[in-house]
Formats: sequence, C-alpha cells, structure tokens
Amino acid sequence: MSDVHICEVGPRDGLQNAKHTMATEAKKAWIAALARAGIREIEVGSFVPPRLIPAMADTADIVRFARGLDGVKVVALAPNLKGFQRAVEAGAHKVTFPVSASHAHSLSNVRMTPDEMVEEVRRCAQLPHPGVELEGAVSTAFGCTIQGAVPEDEVVRIASRLAEFCDVVAIADTVGYANPAQIRRVFRRVRDAIGAKLEAAHLHNTRGLGLANALAAYEEGVRHFDSSMGGLGGCPFAPGASGNVVTEDLVFMFESMGVSTGVDFDRLLEAREVLTRGIPEEPVYGHTPMAGLPKGFRAAA
Ligand code: COA
Ligand code: ZN
Repeated sequence: MSDVHICEVGPRDGLQNAKHTMATEAKKAWIAALARAGIREIEVGSFVPPRLIPAMADTADIVRFARGLDGVKVVALAPNLKGFQRAVEAGAHKVTFPVSASHAHSLSNVRMTPDEMVEEVRRCAQLPHPGVELEGAVSTAFGCTIQGAVPEDEVVRIASRLAEFCDVVAIADTVGYANPAQIRRVFRRVRDAIGAKLEAAHLHNTRGLGLANALAAYEEGVRHFDSSMGGLGGCPFAPGASGNVVTEDLVFMFESMGVSTGVDFDRLLEAREVLTRGIPEEPVYGHTPMAGLPKGFRAAA
C-alpha cells in the first residue's frame, strides 16, 4: 500500500484538449506503460458526443483494453446519463461526473445549471451499476475563467449534495486559479461537511502552483491526487485552462519527502517516452524529467 494514490488523468484531461490526436493503438501503448510504472488508477477517456470531442471517440475501446491490465482501476468521465450508460456498458470501474460550482462554466461545459447537473448525477446513481464507483467532481471550485470568483459556500453546498449519492467526491481547480491558503480552507470546509467521502484533489498547474497546492491538500489530509503526465491538459469549455499538475513532478515531490506513491520513476520516464512517441507534436512539460533525479536520490520505502 502506498501512502498516496495517484490517478493519471492525461489520457482524458490531457488528450481532450491536445491540438493533435493520439491514435487508439498509441493510447493503449501509453496506458499499458503507465500501468507498468505502477500507476494504479487511470482516467482513460470520456463518454461525450464524439462530434463534440473527437479525441474521445474511442473511449469504449480504450476502457475495454485497460480493464485487461492487472490491478488498474479504469476511470471514465461522463457528462450526463447517456455517457454514464455508455461507461457502465463498456465496463469502467469508476465514473467521474464534472459538476461545476461556477454557474457560467456549468452552462458552457454541460449545458445544465449546477443544480440540474446534480440531479442528472442523482438519476445516474439510481440506475443499476453493480461494482461501478461514482465520483462527483466539483469543478471550477476555486474560480472560473468565465464567471470569475466562485463562492466557497457554493462549493460546500454542491459537494454536500453530491455526497448524498456518490461514493466519493473530488474537488477540482479546473482552471488553475487556486492558491495554497484557499486549498486548505476549501478542503477543510468540505471535509467538515462530508467527512471521508471527500477523496481527491484535481489540480491544474496554469500558474505554476500545482505542486504547492498539492502539498497544501496533502497537509489537509488529502491522499488521492489527479495528475497528468507531461502536464498535458485543460478544459476545452473553460477558456484559458491549461494542463494538470505534472505526474512526474508530483511523484518526485512525494517520493523525495518519504511519502510513497507506488510508482517507479524510471518506468514513469519510459511511459513518458511512449507518450511523446504517440503524439510527437504535442509539447510536454515537467521539471524532474528535464533535470533528472538528484544524485543519490532514494525513493520512499
Ligand atoms: N455520448 C454520446 N452521445 C451523446 C451523449 C453522450 N454522453 N450525450 C448526448 N449525446 C447525443 C444525443 O444522443 C444527441 O444525439 P442526436 O443529435 O443524434 O439525437 C446529441 O448528442 C445531443 O444531445 P443533447 O442531450 O442535446 O446534448 P447537448 O448537445 O446539450 O450536450 C453534453 C450536452 C453534456 C452531452 C455536452 O455538453 C458534453 O458532452 N459536455 C461535456 C464536455 C466535457 O467533456 N468537458 C470536459 C470536462 S471538464
Ligand atoms: Zn481537469
């Protein structure tokens, strides 16, 4: 058992916003390489209308492939009931629903108000879904590129409603507006409201505060983190959103602190090569992969 749990979201959050398309076979090779590196949870795609996000059109195929990888929890995003049904049918182990705390982002992203989206998730939860975990992800929880400020009370309210019927709740800084003080405050308030149902932090690195925010969340007791290899990512329906916190840097930060991630760094770099071979035109980021591990580096036991 590792001390922290990392969910790689690059195949979904990264590729949905990439300027170039990654072929299905290349996606599979990347996901398999991530699994070899010890990543135990991968958000492999989303069940959205293919004409809206063509890069996600092969998600059912990808889910079926990823289910064949030993010990990997296969996650897919669904924006509505139809997406949920497709995810369950394909065999996803976990389905994530993006529920914006920002009214304006919610309309732009799913064409529903936050409360309409909560009701959509409730309808999904009421359908049979044996063995499938439901995650309500409160997105734009720290601010929104369309609306600006997002009231913390609204984040707590949406999280509390989702906790009524979701297995777990995540809090997402979709557009990279958060700072560590805000992270501490919001995670503490949501934990006070919903307790252990609060699980993951989904952080974007738009202003370079991804790691600082991850550490603040860790110090608030969060042990599940979403991140994306090479910092790929962004939300196509949130102008100005850029990539997630970089998986390689997150693994380095925790391992060098003595906090185990279960991830093998050398194999993670191999997976990064598989990624760049699969989508060579797309820029990838990350400090540790560029600089290399420090001399004498020792991973957490
Ligand atoms: N998968 C496949 N097709 C779907 C679908 C899904 N999840 N949801 C709707 N459709 C189809 C409908 O069947 C309908 O098809 P038709 O025209 O052949 O009849 C068409 O899409 C329109 O359906 P409608 O319910 O009116 O959807 P919409 O156009 O209002 O779009 C969402 C609503 C939620 C589907 C869309 O806004 C969406 O996918 N948003 C998510 C965006 C995203 O992934 N953001 C990233 C997360 S941060
Ligand atoms: Zn995101």
